[in-house]
Amino acid sequence: MQDLFDIHDEDGVWQEALGSGATWIHGFLVAHADEVMAEIDRVVAQAPYRHLSTPGGKRMSVAMSNCGAEGWVSDRAGYRYQTIDPLTATVWPAMPARLRALAQQAAGDGGYPGFEPTVCLINYYAPGARMGLHQDRDEANLTAPIVSFSLGLPATFIWGGWQRVGKTQRIMLRHGDAVVWGGEDRLRFHGVAPLKDGEHAVTGRARINLTFRQTK
Ligand code: SIN
Ligand code: FE2
Repeated sequence: MQDLFDIHDEDGVWQEALGSGATWIHGFLVAHADEVMAEIDRVVAQAPYRHLSTPGGKRMSVAMSNCGAEGWVSDRAGYRYQTIDPLTATVWPAMPARLRALAQQAAGDGGYPGFEPTVCLINYYAPGARMGLHQDRDEANLTAPIVSFSLGLPATFIWGGWQRVGKTQRIMLRHGDAVVWGGEDRLRFHGVAPLKDGEHAVTGRARINLTFRQTK
């Protein structure tokens, strides 16, 4: 979709609007991928990836972890943020300063200066893993945007509207892409189609997605 604006810079990083409050920043992380991967490895050494259960008792196909002041968890009791990792029974690893700075930079590029993320969800997609259409609405602060970073294998991101049913757009998020959505697009439904198998130099047979959120 190129109807609103395209902004290109000299590094092969370019922006494409996905709505009045949503921007896809192609290639944003490419130059920083190795350092971002190293930070993720440090976080998951402390808070390992795990498959959470939905409130209905289904095992999620995506494995996940978190860093920051809180983490997103799901179990029989529902979806929520909490300061303690239920797997390790300790606080989540701190959000690495470099990740936080990159998320703030992407938010600024997307039109949201002053973003102060409190959590970063780390989603690990092995081939076949998917995420159903949902809204990100567990955050107490819905005025702040979501900043998403993708690494590794490409995935089809499903970008919907404000209702679960209706028209959706399918875009291919590639290694290094960022998406920022806030404002009137903050509660758009979105999801990820089953990951196609492949091999990536940075992540192996996987896609890793980070989402930075302001929960307070
Ligand atoms: C999410 O919606 O939380 C993750 C989206 C993605 O993996 O791209
Ligand atoms: Fe989401």
